[in-house]
Amino acid sequence: MTTASSFSQENITEITLNVDEKAPVISKHIYGHFAEHLGRCIYDGFYVGDSSSIANTNGVRNDIVEALKELQIPNLRWPGGCFADTYHWKDGIGPKKDRPTIVNTWWGGVTEDNSFGTHDFLNMCELLGTEPYLSGNVGSGTVQELADWVQYTNFGGISPMSKLREENGRKEPWKVKFWGIGNEAWGCGGNMTAEYYANEYRKYATFISDWENTGGLLRIASGASSDDYHWTETLMKNIPKNLLGGVALHHYSVINWGKKGDAVTFTDAQYFRTMEEALKMEELVTKHSAIMDKYDPKKKIDLIVDEWGGWYEVEKGTNPGFLYQQNTMRDALLAGATLNIFNNHADRVRMANLAQAVNVLQAVILTDKAKMILTPTYHVMNMYKVHQDAKLLPLAFESPKYTFEGKSLPAVSVSASKDSKGSVHISLVNIDPTKDNEVEIDITKLGLKNVSGTILTSKNLRDYNSFDEPDKIEPQNFKKFKVKKRILKVTIPAFSVIVLEGN
Ligand code: AHR
Repeated sequence: MTTASSFSQENITEITLNVDEKAPVISKHIYGHFAEHLGRCIYDGFYVGDSSSIANTNGVRNDIVEALKELQIPNLRWPGGCFADTYHWKDGIGPKKDRPTIVNTWWGGVTEDNSFGTHDFLNMCELLGTEPYLSGNVGSGTVQELADWVQYTNFGGISPMSKLREENGRKEPWKVKFWGIGNEAWGCGGNMTAEYYANEYRKYATFISDWENTGGLLRIASGASSDDYHWTETLMKNIPKNLLGGVALHHYSVINWGKKGDAVTFTDAQYFRTMEEALKMEELVTKHSAIMDKYDPKKKIDLIVDEWGGWYEVEKGTNPGFLYQQNTMRDALLAGATLNIFNNHADRVRMANLAQAVNVLQAVILTDKAKMILTPTYHVMNMYKVHQDAKLLPLAFESPKYTFEGKSLPAVSVSASKDSKGSVHISLVNIDPTKDNEVEIDITKLGLKNVSGTILTSKNLRDYNSFDEPDKIEPQNFKKFKVKKRILKVTIPAFSVIVLEGN
């Protein structure tokens, strides 16, 4: 995008906000989450069992439900991840005492008792007021197994699977819309080639629906890892469009897969690398979207980033297969900048899922027995929820640079939207760990009279909320802005996330 420079002053970044009737609505589903059978995400996370002394509803922690309801999470992906292609859903229904066990081969080799299954998850989604996104087993499952799962969860008429559902205590179908056809088919989902997977996808997508897709399923293809553009190209070329609702993409902000660095005591160089990987999302969604545009110029098929977030070494003393990590201001900045990218690409990116919701990777919630804390990432998600289903306000600007050892990244990231009540929200992130940045936003076209703001920052970049100090990082009132002659001048402190509201 080009820069407007009618009110140029040195060291001040000028941002022009545009009102464009043709601009897309930011799908609320961009603010989705992910809950895998991994470490303490489900067991000893969401699910403590109904005999637990921790307050729960049918075994699901009430405090987690309340916290996620506050975020208005639009969807929740389950049961994996890599776990999904090992999971046989029929083992997780019926009386809990009769369910067979499953060894979680990808994540710690632990034996699970299948006490959290289809009913538990879908009923939990109802409690949360969120839409379920089920990840089907392609790697070690069968077409029949997935077709049965769809019939079990969605069919209201007389059928073997609806009869079974009713016998297990649920008369009405849940009507699940989002269906993933396998996960990371290029890796843990079966080590397939793109060409082979495209054929598998066609078969699965055919038998979980009918000719007209009357059930309205959104069938989602297992997508590329980061910059594997051949994968997206192959799926778009080889899968008939009427079978394809979305194409996934996974990208984690990892410094180096062999040496991921500590989640809290990271070096300045590691901080720069994390931000570099996070901001790479801009290039990834631009290039994957461009490929999709070639085959789907009307943008009917969604780009779904159903795994994203920071990934560091596990916390010392925890099971390496459980992927438990702390969450600092670095993660808040990563989340804010990534969500700005998704918002600005709302014409194609229509769903995304942060990995993962509870106790795993870039979690929004951490638990320790009865204790629960909200991470800085949680607070960013809460501040940004105002963008859900709001109309994007396209913007143009050239970011100041954050330079480290001769390399530079854009320091400031911004996105803006107008909601159905007419309120405008502008989210701003400054990833520079040492320098405040000033921006001037031309709001002439928006006619805003009252502006207020919220900021998330802390004394130190490496600060985090702990079980001893759960509220160390919390959103605060933000006042470092002025409105003068239709120009909104904002000072964005070093390493901070801000959301402004204007009416
Ligand atoms: O989120 C953790 C793992 O990362 C998921 O199981 C897998 O899909 C990805 O590789």
